[in-house]
Amino acid sequence: MKLVFATHNQNKFKEVKVLLPPYIELVSLTDIGCHDEIPETGETLKENAQIKSDFVTTNYGLPCFSDDTGLLVDALNGAPGVYSARYAGEHKNADANMNKILSELENKTSRSARFETVIALNLKEENIHFTGVAEGKITKSKSGQKGFGYDPIFQPKGYDKTFAELPLEVKNEISHRGKAIKQLIAYLHKLPSK
Ligand code: IMP
Repeated sequence: MKLVFATHNQNKFKEVKVLLPPYIELVSLTDIGCHDEIPETGETLKENAQIKSDFVTTNYGLPCFSDDTGLLVDALNGAPGVYSARYAGEHKNADANMNKILSELENKTSRSARFETVIALNLKEENIHFTGVAEGKITKSKSGQKGFGYDPIFQPKGYDKTFAELPLEVKNEISHRGKAIKQLIAYLHKLPSK
């Protein structure tokens, strides 16, 4: 069975590909000749993930899954949430996004936050969603060089390092996306092989 992972991110793609059962042929957006930036116009992570999967299934006739992630900060009433990529503007700059959160939290006592990933799987005859959450807190300053996005200011619960200081294998084991992907893979392993 051919299954599209609706991403242009080759790192995310490779990470998932090796985990799938052999009867699933995972292909990327590039592989199917889709070079569009699929608009993320939903108001929730679930809606955005679904929009991307539906776009591919409708236009290319293939089953597809996609993921959408947000950082939810309690003292900011769940912001940036679904707007995480563009929090400090359309240029999607990770440094500017982190600076904005650090300055907004300057006078707040609570720094608790969580990453949430929703995966929407469109198998044509059914849509299934998987959610992964990583609890933690926003540090007072940036720390670490690994990872991407908000990793330098997010310290997962039970660790004294940020995601950007932890080895990738550790991050993948405890991260929002890692947890959602594990559920997806378990589901795909149970599908009848075609
Ligand atoms: P996307 O849904 O993967 O496009 O991510 C939305 C926003 O969240 C972007 O600003 C990403 O940089 C950020 N983001 C997604 N996953 C992570 C992560 O694992 N660590 C830090 N930031 C992330």
